[in-house]
Amino acid sequence: MPSTDTQAIDQLRSRLEAVNQTHLLAFAGQLEADDLQQLLSQIETAEPQTFPELVKTYVTSKPVAELPAGVEPAPYYALDGDWDRAKFRKAGEDLLRAGKVACFTVAGGQGSRLGYNGPKGCYPAAPISGKPLFQLFAESIRKASSLYGKPIPWAIMTSDLNHEATVEFFEQHQYFGLDPKDVSFFPQGSMPAFDRKTGRALLASPSSLALTPDGHGGSIRALHRSGTLDALRARGIEHLSYFQVDNATVKPVDPLFLGLHVAAPDSSAEMSSKMVAKAYAEEKVGLFCKINGRTAVVEYSDMPMQRQQETNTDGSLKFNGGSIAIHAMSLDFLSRVATNPDYALPFHRADKKVAFCDPDADGRCVTPDEPNAVKLEMFVFDALPLAERSIVLETDRVEEFAPIKNAEGNDSPETSKALQIERAARWLEARGVRIPRDSQNEVIATIEISPLTATDPSHLEGVDLPEEIEPGSEVAL
Ligand code: UD1
Repeated sequence: MPSTDTQAIDQLRSRLEAVNQTHLLAFAGQLEADDLQQLLSQIETAEPQTFPELVKTYVTSKPVAELPAGVEPAPYYALDGDWDRAKFRKAGEDLLRAGKVACFTVAGGQGSRLGYNGPKGCYPAAPISGKPLFQLFAESIRKASSLYGKPIPWAIMTSDLNHEATVEFFEQHQYFGLDPKDVSFFPQGSMPAFDRKTGRALLASPSSLALTPDGHGGSIRALHRSGTLDALRARGIEHLSYFQVDNATVKPVDPLFLGLHVAAPDSSAEMSSKMVAKAYAEEKVGLFCKINGRTAVVEYSDMPMQRQQETNTDGSLKFNGGSIAIHAMSLDFLSRVATNPDYALPFHRADKKVAFCDPDADGRCVTPDEPNAVKLEMFVFDALPLAERSIVLETDRVEEFAPIKNAEGNDSPETSKALQIERAARWLEARGVRIPRDSQNEVIATIEISPLTATDPSHLEGVDLPEEIEPGSEVAL
């Protein structure tokens, strides 16, 4: 082994000694140069100096999620509320015309629940054309760019597992008509998995840590570390429109929401959110709350069911704001969260089975039957309370929330298609088109409106529309 390698290992070993993690170098002396480099760089990137605090807080003790006293539902701009939509829509349009908005999609998840073998954004989502999710978003962004006369850059967070396949997909499809210089990709970060009894970081092999994705909250530091924040700032971007890869009807560019985010008197223009009214008390969605004067999302699992069932005098749910994981964020705020330790996001612990290579048993690989490890993830909505004043906008489920998460049942391709069809039907009905519906009021035709035709019902003005749609027919506009 070259002496420089020996020196590097020795230096690292003494740092690892200080944090009780020297086992990570148990096989270092036997590795080929490339493998050794990989191991050393993984350990450096994982910042072992932070391990003792992490292990103490999240691994050897379990953080108890206590709901603070005085937690209240967050106020929101209600769908049927009396507030000046035109003023805020104009503020959003001005921002778009000034070229200050970019889109940001988190697409690092593995889609294992869906059982789809590939990046989730490549999943065919549209009811007739089968356009993949990425194409639906790309076409919405193209439509907005042409409406507001400015390119809208689009950053996509991938993971090491799907990065190449994602970029290849865009190349194969000529970026769905977007200019490649407006689309950027970067892989998300990871965290080591820790042995839940000893707090030792696990090795997946003699030359590799057992790494797991650091969650969508990791997107904030990944935006910074990848240089994406700086690149966007250099283009004059001031705000990001954030959404998840799984939502087929998301509005990637919504002037009303962006306008509220930057111009509402109760917004500090740092981070804003969209919500839908909960369908029923037990629905498993994060809840928008006010805690100590700040907006926050409390996971349904951290909110006692009794509180989730509380009602107002008119019988409506008190904690009504369900999170659909759509946010607007300023670049200044994101930079602060990414770099200032006072703004660091907390981790959430998940106990999982993680196969590992055991340094105490000559590197034998162990496949555990029981959860043996702690995985640590960050959630993006934990940044909300870091914003001074943060608004929530209510939207209609049918208009903006048709996620594809599971192969069957709730939030599946089937329910997403039904919602896409229902939305298209409503938009056409608003233009006077007769839509066939059954006794349950379900649409009995397949209708698809391309985002290039309309991303808002008002865009259908002047479009040549049929007077009525035949039951059982397929209509693509
Ligand atoms: C999430 C929210 C939930 C919200 C719902 C709306 C959490 C904990 N819950 O649930 O409150 O009601 O969305 O649809 O977030 N991702 C990454 N990297 C990761 C992990 C996730 O990019 O390491 C991306 C995924 O690609 C996906 C999104 O984040 O686009 C959501 O992740 P997922 O774990 O599927 O969250 P949900 O359980 O669907």
